[in-house]
Amino acid sequence: MGKPVTSKARRQPAIKAKSATKTPTRSPVKRRVRELSEAAVGPPQRILLASSEVHPFSKTGGLADMVGALGKALAHAGHRVGIVTPLYQGIRERFPQMQRVDWVFDLPLGANRVQAELWSIELLPQLTVYFIYKPEYFDRPGLYNEHGVDYPDNAERFIFYSKCIAHLARYLPWKPEVVHVNDWQAGLVPALIRHQSLAEGWGTPPRICLTIHNLAYQGLFPRSAYNLTNLPLNYFHPEGAEFYGLLNCLKAGIAYADVLTTVSPRYAREITTEPFGCALDGMLRKRQSRLIGILNGVDYEEWNTEGNPNLKHSYTSRRLTGKLANKLALQQELGLPVRADVPLFGTITRLTDQKGIDIELGALEEMLPTDLQFVLLGSGSDEYERAFQGLARRFPHKVAVQLGYNEALSHRIEAACDFYLMPSKFEPCGLNQMYSLRYGAVPIVRITGGLDDTVTDANEDPAAANGFKFLDYSARALAKAMRKALAIYEVPALLRRYRQNAMSCDFSWQRTVGEYLRAYRLDIK
Ligand code: ADP
Ligand code: GLC
Repeated sequence: MGKPVTSKARRQPAIKAKSATKTPTRSPVKRRVRELSEAAVGPPQRILLASSEVHPFSKTGGLADMVGALGKALAHAGHRVGIVTPLYQGIRERFPQMQRVDWVFDLPLGANRVQAELWSIELLPQLTVYFIYKPEYFDRPGLYNEHGVDYPDNAERFIFYSKCIAHLARYLPWKPEVVHVNDWQAGLVPALIRHQSLAEGWGTPPRICLTIHNLAYQGLFPRSAYNLTNLPLNYFHPEGAEFYGLLNCLKAGIAYADVLTTVSPRYAREITTEPFGCALDGMLRKRQSRLIGILNGVDYEEWNTEGNPNLKHSYTSRRLTGKLANKLALQQELGLPVRADVPLFGTITRLTDQKGIDIELGALEEMLPTDLQFVLLGSGSDEYERAFQGLARRFPHKVAVQLGYNEALSHRIEAACDFYLMPSKFEPCGLNQMYSLRYGAVPIVRITGGLDDTVTDANEDPAAANGFKFLDYSARALAKAMRKALAIYEVPALLRRYRQNAMSCDFSWQRTVGEYLRAYRLDIK
């Protein structure tokens, strides 16, 4: 394979190399964070993050939130950070400060060569977001699919994206020391970098970390898609990118990354077992000494109950009147009876099997004759959308359903709800239960993945209880947990204690940053 770069790109006249080390910061808090971070995990690093979605530019789920928050947190802690992501439809209009970089990608993709532009935004002094501008691939209404149907050229789109990441990793003037890729869309990057460093002489190639956000999505394509990688066949075998004759992008990442992380300690254990391993558990067991679970952090600058532009009323765990005011406002907004006394449950979710929607519908059938209200914000499978609409028609005074994606409304729902339902079948981390804790919407969760790692049930620690947990994947078990929640709703002092425990939980990014930095240094136990 020839060098995947034009001479223009190699010169890189316009991207200015930034100092990878000291950037003076005037904020004493940020300075202190940096000092602590350095003391705990060594000097500043140069890190290139890659994700097919990044908040606030593009999002279908928690991946976007996690990468946006981690990038900010690493930069605040004094590290040099770049994030590479596709330039999807509408982003340029929403972020007019974005600038074109004097850089041209001209890369082999199978038998063709494909060109793209690079655009960028400086989000913080140490944080640049790089956008791959390739309208033929990315200027579409959806990120990965439309009306539930995957784009037929997803292999081409994301193999090209992965090549752009490897190219930036190699030629960015600030020379990333670590490349941290996320999920299948960037899963081929470790193999691409490994191959280039072995075959073409890269000097000191970066260390590569792959984070698995959801093992259920692996990026599986016909064998012919492997040709688009331009890699020799010695990466396509059962210990590498091959999966029963198909190309598996995530598996390639698992095989060739230096370190693997996933987004909660419990999920890290679960995915090495057959029930959760999605047929990759054997492979993950082999790489278990390089696999760690790091719980996602929360960006509390965005997800907070005070001074939040998405909320009509601010509140804190000590002054909860604002929470009640938000509840009354949401009831009014969604056409439910405006009642302070009725317990309000809510869910904000992708409507997929993963999220336990079938048992949630079953539990609601059982519980709706009781005096309660329920709000859903979600989108996804037609069948689930219709089922919730049916509930809203049958219980117009108790159920409000908003189909679609609405970020501002998601904050208002978290702020209004007394209880948050998240009965997932499996949940790598889950962010919504952590947002719910901070917003005092006491979570009711199934014992799986990150839900187990973040919520405390009275059975585990009565004094620290901040939610309700159940194990059986059944409507009955969820309904039983909802009944327990209704019982504490009747005892205001107890409800207040649950809320205060919930709202004082701290899943801030500082811890997350330290753990990732240790992983980047391959300093794992
Ligand atoms: P997942 O990534 O599996 O969907 P997470 O709990 O990690 O689950 O993250 C989901 C994120 O997507 C949260 O920020 C949640 O608020 C958001 N979200 C999901 N559905 C919607 C929706 N319909 N409208 C607004 N936000 C949504
Ligand atoms: C995935 C998982 C979710 C996790 C998110 C961010 O979408 O389904 O549990 O919170 O990624 O890591």
